Amino acid sequence: MNTELNTETISALEATAVERAVKLLSRSELVAVPTETVYGLAADSRNDRAVAAIFQVKERPYFNPLILHLPDRTWVERLAKVNAEQGKLVAALIERFWPGPLTLLLPKREKVSDLVTASLPTVAVRMPANPILRTILERGGFPVAAPSANRFGRVSPTTAQHVMEELAGRIPLIVDDGPTKLGLESTIVEPRDGKLVLHRPGPITEFALGEFGVVELVDLKGAIHAPGQTPSHYAPNKPVRLVNKGEVPADSAGAGLLAWGPSLQRSRFQVTFSLSESGDLLEAASRLFSLLRAMDREPVTAIYVEKVPEIGIGKAIMNRLYRAARATSESAGLSDVASGVSDDRAKSESERERA
Ligand code: TXA
Ligand code: MG
Repeated sequence: MNTELNTETISALEATAVERAVKLLSRSELVAVPTETVYGLAADSRNDRAVAAIFQVKERPYFNPLILHLPDRTWVERLAKVNAEQGKLVAALIERFWPGPLTLLLPKREKVSDLVTASLPTVAVRMPANPILRTILERGGFPVAAPSANRFGRVSPTTAQHVMEELAGRIPLIVDDGPTKLGLESTIVEPRDGKLVLHRPGPITEFALGEFGVVELVDLKGAIHAPGQTPSHYAPNKPVRLVNKGEVPADSAGAGLLAWGPSLQRSRFQVTFSLSESGDLLEAASRLFSLLRAMDREPVTAIYVEKVPEIGIGKAIMNRLYRAARATSESAGLSDVASGVSDDRAKSESERERA
């Protein structure tokens, strides 16, 4: 990335948007695309040079694997070896949740590049619901690898403007389809031994998955890391601190508050935004990343966020907030702010989830 690119934004409403995106992708270039969750940084997954460029542009470590976004469900069979035992469960999940924000971890076929899977034996696949991305995938006729379109460790982008803030000069094109509908990354699940192993909570809730089998949780809060060892995740520049609803910390006067519901303490903080005035978790999810970015730009010393109930998508919201809080305290040189396990598996999962 020695040469600065001129990053152009094209509206999804433009007649040529799909064609331009497909053309660039087919030439091994990167394009930022909307999904129903967050904006993705897309590349032709069949082409290692294009996939490698994702890691470069994001400054993402190669040990962190990518999700493949499929043109249609026939690709599952082509990319993954779904055994008889998994078959029924996988078919049922796909039938119910695709296209949509559910990513499946499945045993990979040989032809899936080790660059995509970070040499893991599994591949992550999903069929996104955003209409413009679906048209791009259908016209292209190949799966695209796409992580969230942010630089490593930072807050995922939910608007084309956010992508511009993250990646201007590094990619040729951003397809702008307005703010993403859901605002949080897809739920990641691995069907294993008849169970559903939840690797990342997201818009498809544990409750919804429960209909299809026992849901086993993987370390939702993540592991503690030695401070400063690696870059942070979901991290604004300002420290993020979690508080209970209505709690006013000693340094509130200079700080910002992301309130859950209408805040009675607005005047005690320098700036207050509400995640959802009416206490709607879906609205809070869709606004979370945007408000973290907005608060980061305000003249505040810290970003306090009121905890939301850990029910439904509230679990996914709190998962991202715990990570943001831990990440920003790590970079401030504090360590023991979040409880978590520290075995190797959890650690590598936590590291992977950063990007
Ligand atoms: O909603 C989403 O999933 C968005 C949009 C763009 O589709 N994508 C996204 O990608 O969030 P990314 O790369 O930011 O996060 C993907 C997560 C990472 O934590 C990665 O470690 C994990 O998926 N992942 C991918 N392949 C995996 C695998 N084979 N085993 C375990 N984790 C995997
Ligand atoms: Mg990401």
